[in-house]
Amino acid sequence: MSASNGPDAVGGTAAGGVRHVAIIMDGNGRWAKKRFMPRAFGHKRGVDTVREVARAARSMGLEALTLYAFSSENWKRPEDEIADLMGLLRTFIRSDLDEFIANNIRLKIIGDYQALAPDIVEMIEDAMARTAGNSATTLAIALNYGSQQEIARAAARAAAKGAITAEAIEAELDTADLPPLDLLIRTSGEIRLSNFLLWQAAYAEMWFTDVLWPDFTATHLKDALDQFASRERRFGGR
Ligand code: IPE
Ligand code: IPE
Ligand code: MG
Repeated sequence: MSASNGPDAVGGTAAGGVRHVAIIMDGNGRWAKKRFMPRAFGHKRGVDTVREVARAARSMGLEALTLYAFSSENWKRPEDEIADLMGLLRTFIRSDLDEFIANNIRLKIIGDYQALAPDIVEMIEDAMARTAGNSATTLAIALNYGSQQEIARAAARAAAKGAITAEAIEAELDTADLPPLDLLIRTSGEIRLSNFLLWQAAYAEMWFTDVLWPDFTATHLKDALDQFASRERRFGGR
């Protein structure tokens, strides 16, 4: 990740006040289909985009980038596609962990990752432990993540500790240690949240693009941040 240590790769040095961006990485299957290739090919190229965008987030000075990689509803997909996705996850952690360590990136997982295969849980926990002290950017990957389930878990924990208030639930969310969500991006032209960060998106800005995830670049991220900078956020005030 040499580019991230030097000047900003896509021009500009600050992220325009944005601290936390989340992305629903969608469109791998359609990207592959357009090329008469199997869906797995699209997922593989999607991982390359994850790498590029994570590097860009680091060089743009974002505090956190949260990526939706596998939803709690994605288990409905055919077994072979799920196996391909889990295989790519293993490869990604194996091949990119050193880069995270070298570039001061903290890896965090949100979602019920404990329900994944034991070897993946072990890899994830090792990667999180080895990057826990890193402070430049947190790369949060949502795995077996569903926002409604996350809120239910948080509410149950809040109840066990006392009152169920908005603050108490928020403090128990998987994202509790991340900055507030500023900007939520979805690729591939779908205008829906698909059970992602429902609570956290309460006052997030939204940016939707028709670009399919494997075609998404650091320049698209920069475009989204530029547009964010021109928006007036009111949070209910005036
Ligand atoms: C996003 O691409 C990746 C995951 C949901 C894991 P899709 O696989 O949903 O691609 P499309 O939406 O079918 O094009
Ligand atoms: C959302 O994409 C989940 C991820 C990007 C991991 P989907 O492709 O699963 O969402 P739907 O089914 O189109 O809503
Ligand atoms: Mg999809």
